[in-house]
Amino acid sequence: MRPIQTTPVKSNLTISGSRSAVAAVLGLALMSLAPLLAHADEEARSRSPALSPGFRFTETTGEALFASACQGCHMPDGKGAVGAGTYPSLAKDSNLEVGNYPVHVVVRGQRAMPPVGAMMSDAQVATVVNYVRTHFGNEYRDAVSAEDVKLARPEK
Ligand code: HEC
Repeated sequence: MRPIQTTPVKSNLTISGSRSAVAAVLGLALMSLAPLLAHADEEARSRSPALSPGFRFTETTGEALFASACQGCHMPDGKGAVGAGTYPSLAKDSNLEVGNYPVHVVVRGQRAMPPVGAMMSDAQVATVVNYVRTHFGNEYRDAVSAEDVKLARPEK
């Protein structure tokens, strides 16, 4: 139990005095945190879906686009990988039969897959999707078009 306060005026002074001390210490602490917080904010922004704001893939062939934008996760043979994450195989992948599905996944992302198509033109997305649908043991010859990609883009 705390003793009942008998000298309100004096104790008020001490309280407000210690309050401002606390405020000063807190202020200093927050000030020293500021650069850290700014850094965290920067990191959060660099993790946005567009990976690096303003970045665009410049490759134009399916092979080159796949190498730059897809194989880091799906592997050069398209067979995917399991390790720190699960990257599904695109080889002999019956999910690619309906062309709109891979188009959607590439432009909108899906769970752990980022929307890498956000950094490509409609024609580039169509090209890389058509490449995947006709390589790695896939034989889906009904090509998707840039127009299909345009329609699949999320609303801005
Ligand atoms: C950062 C890693 C990463 C990159 C880069 C990436 N993917 Fe993926 N991809 C994934 C993951 C993870 C999944 C599984 C998503 C899920 O859980 O539904 C996936 C799923 C897919 C699927 C669905 C497969 C299925 O059988 O349902 C397709 C198609 C696909 N990716 C194509 C591509 C293409 C084409 C590119 C390049 C333009 C690409 N991905 C780039 C990680 C990636």
